[in-house]
Amino acid sequence: MNMIKRTALATAAASMLALLPLTAHAAGGGEEIHIERQTWSFAGFTGKFDKAQLQRGYQVYKEVCAACHGVKRVAFRNLAEKTGPGFPEESVKALAATFKVEDGPNDDGKMFQRPAKLSDNVPSPYKNEQEARSIHNGAYPPDLSNMAKARSIENTAPWYKHIFLMARDIGVGYQEGGVDYIYALLTGYEEKPPAGVKLADGMNYNKAFPGNQIAMAPPLSDGIVKYEDGTPAKVENYSRDVAAFLAWTADPRLEDRKSMGWIVMLYLVITALLLFIGKKRIWASAH
Ligand code: HEC
Repeated sequence: MNMIKRTALATAAASMLALLPLTAHAAGGGEEIHIERQTWSFAGFTGKFDKAQLQRGYQVYKEVCAACHGVKRVAFRNLAEKTGPGFPEESVKALAATFKVEDGPNDDGKMFQRPAKLSDNVPSPYKNEQEARSIHNGAYPPDLSNMAKARSIENTAPWYKHIFLMARDIGVGYQEGGVDYIYALLTGYEEKPPAGVKLADGMNYNKAFPGNQIAMAPPLSDGIVKYEDGTPAKVENYSRDVAAFLAWTADPRLEDRKSMGWIVMLYLVITALLLFIGKKRIWASAH
């Protein structure tokens, strides 16, 4: 076999191997996990957050999730940002003032509580992880600020579909796996586990959670949050909106970054054009 053939064969084998893990299925004790891709306004090259959706998502977070989960990376002033939920600053100020934060020490060396300000981060519902665990029977409700980035999904699409997906995402990649997971988790509860599966004490059956047994009881039910913009008060909508909100908390600079991408592209195009014109001039008299 000559050199070229051998190299070609080795390259082909290597690319097959590279594809293999992508088609692997989620392992573990529970049933096979399949997370559906969702459509998000902020996906892709030109993606932008949907302000109304982020506002609804924050409402769901505040009225439901905040009882157990913090978003410690979010400062109140972020909630008023134009590239975020964009709530009016006055109402965010009023909202912040309903929270208490610790400050100090004062002149007597004591720490004290005061109403939160725009510059404060949203206080966590717990003093520390131990307190959280003692409240939740040993389970720990993680801080959600970075959750959409901390989780990703394994792609279980068959290889021929996978190639199509890779081609579609070329240039930006697929970055919404964590958000898809949060949506799937919130909509993935089953009242009863499948026959033959025994739930441990205090556990709930969830199709999307690795191992299928999660300590978080289903937090959402239809009608639990009253939306003001006419969006139907359904678990699917709550889940989608709060997942989008958590995509923003995990990547608040997404819009700036994407518009910077366009500026860089424009810069490259102009540079290429100038180089081309320059080359033409320099070589114009060279033959
Ligand atoms: C009554 C308390 C409670 C409420 C309310 C609650 N959670 Fe949880 N959550 C938990 C606990 C406890 C865990 C840890 C579960 C485990 O490890 O089994 C958890 C885990 C999670 C996880 C991590 C799953 C993983 O992959 O590790 C996410 C994401 C999550 N919750 C999102 C939410 C969202 C979004 C809401 C609001 C719609 C919410 N939770 C409301 C208690 C709660």
